[in-house]
Amino acid sequence: MPLLEVERLSKGFGGVRAVHDVSFTLDEGELLGVMGPNGSGKTTLFNLIAGALRPDSGRIRFRGHDVTGLAPHRICARGIARTFQLVKPFAGLSALENVLVGRLFGRERASPAGATADALRLLALVGLEGRAGQPAAALTLMDRKRLELARALATRPRLLLLDEIAGGLTEHECHALVDTIRAVHASGTTIVWIEHVVHALLAVVGRLIVLNFGRLIAEGPPATVIATPEVRETYMGIEA
Ligand SMILES: Nc1ncnc2c1ncn2[C@@H]1O[C@H](COP(=O)(O)OP(=O)(O)OP(=O)(O)O)[C@@H](O)[C@H]1O
Ligand SMILES: [Mg+2]
Repeated sequence: MPLLEVERLSKGFGGVRAVHDVSFTLDEGELLGVMGPNGSGKTTLFNLIAGALRPDSGRIRFRGHDVTGLAPHRICARGIARTFQLVKPFAGLSALENVLVGRLFGRERASPAGATADALRLLALVGLEGRAGQPAAALTLMDRKRLELARALATRPRLLLLDEIAGGLTEHECHALVDTIRAVHASGTTIVWIEHVVHALLAVVGRLIVLNFGRLIAEGPPATVIATPEVRETYMGIEA
């Protein structure tokens, strides 16, 4: 049984078909990359999977159960966590408290005592050691992106959805992020990673899907997908 099954998913906003008839499956243990130009529907796809939006049509199954239209907190409790492209920390809480929210309300909920130790470990993992007590609102954008990752990991996801977390990092930071993602994946978490920083994506993903105007236009091994005429055309259009 696949971990995730997305079947003929569609979502429109007014006249815009943000996600149009998208189907794919994801096996447990995969690290899947998602590419596509700006506005091609990548974040909307995550919003549908994570329950932030309801699809107009189509189904989403997770571990064999239909989760279409479930509330985000229920989906999180079943083991799907996501980061937000436009970061959404609890601004009035400290970095540590943000991660604690994930640890206390996610899939495997910790006791308050154990939760703090776990949260501190996760802050260190993403490079936020020393920032635990700072209000999230006072962190730099890059640090708030790191916090997104720590909070998502704190929910103990079976499936982690990462939405553009590498943009704006230095090369050194990007390497560190790729190492972190590899480590999270190696510890047994299935990952879907939306990213415009293509070299970072291609360094880790085993499979790639590409969206364009809401449609899935290519899927398969990264090297093959990158070389398909439709994908090359899509990206050459952008460069032009
Ligand atoms: N809440 C919304 N209301 C109206 N239109 C929306 C909404 N969310 C997304 N859209 C539109 O849906 C389309 C897909 O947007 P989406 O954010 O999913 O793209 P994306 O692939 O994540 O782009 P980017 O790479 O810029 O993050 C765009 O045309 C966008 O303007
Ligand atoms: Mg997006």
